[in-house]
Amino acid sequence: MSLRDSLGRVATDLRVSLTDRCNLRCSYCMPAEGLAWLPREEILTDDEVVRLVRIAVTRLGVNEVRLTGGEPTVRPRLVDIVARLADLRPRPQLSMTTNGTSLVRMAPALRAAGLDRVNVSLDTLRNDRYLALTHRDRLGDAQAGLAAAAATGMAPVKVNAVLVRGVNDDEAASLLRWCLQRGYFLRFIEQMPLDPQHSWDRGAMVTGAEILARLRSEFTLSLLPGRGSAPAELFTVDGGWGTVGVIGSVTAPFCAACDRVRLTADGQVRSCLFAREETDLRTPMRAGADDAQLAALWARAVRGKRAGHGIDGPAFVQPARPMSAIGG
Ligand code: 5AD
Ligand code: SF4
Repeated sequence: MSLRDSLGRVATDLRVSLTDRCNLRCSYCMPAEGLAWLPREEILTDDEVVRLVRIAVTRLGVNEVRLTGGEPTVRPRLVDIVARLADLRPRPQLSMTTNGTSLVRMAPALRAAGLDRVNVSLDTLRNDRYLALTHRDRLGDAQAGLAAAAATGMAPVKVNAVLVRGVNDDEAASLLRWCLQRGYFLRFIEQMPLDPQHSWDRGAMVTGAEILARLRSEFTLSLLPGRGSAPAELFTVDGGWGTVGVIGSVTAPFCAACDRVRLTADGQVRSCLFAREETDLRTPMRAGADDAQLAALWARAVRGKRAGHGIDGPAFVQPARPMSAIGG
């Protein structure tokens, strides 16, 4: 069985949110006071996470597993979870999206446990702005975390940046220069309407085109062909080995080539970031469903995946869950 939807897309890339909590409060993601966290008893246990990922890998054709949050490193026993996922056969590619602030402490153990790659979120190189954006004074920790990840041999080390108008939209070129100097692969992501405050504004969003224009004022960019299912348009920089990606989630959606499926920390399958329906695997699992039954439920959930997010359509409604409770 594979996770094929009615349009013929096959999901092979599973994003697993391990917690909806985070040690930062990025303004486009969480209010400063935090959110109403998922109740503890609804969060999948380690055994339940490993079981569902095993079902996805052995029965449903998933070959890549990305751990997300909230912030995955706040999940207790993360290293042990990674080790158990790396023991699955066929062994999935294992990656993690993190804010990086815990990587100085955790990168070596995560690497030893089998984590193949990390994406670190870094929106600014200025302490005052990092504090304003994330409500925490942790820029140095995030930067040191990136270096720690690179030092373990995880490659490529990727950096995700979201530009917010009037806050850090003048930093595109400096972020790229900083990443190139260190061998990190930088990708800019257009801000999507997934904030809990529902204050996203299409008109205020910094678009991919605008980011490219800003970069082109300081670098010569050449488009690399073959975007495939990868959401980023990739460019070489000044003819060198370095690249930069621009993920036009809103203005250049990659939905037609999407190969992703998501599992939330409380055991709900979401076929899309913007899905408004979820399929509950936790309840049947806890009621005694066997692997075949859970796989069938999962396959059915993906079959109904919608063609696209429709952000620009008149009928668009932001999903009830914020990004931190879905997983990036
Ligand atoms: N739009 C785009 N990217 C977002 N992220 C969080 N919220 C949004 C949003 N609304 C990014 C974070 C991190 C990754 C998990 O997703 O910056 O890099
Ligand atoms: Fe935390 Fe990531 Fe949300 Fe920032 S974007 S508050 S790092 S979960």
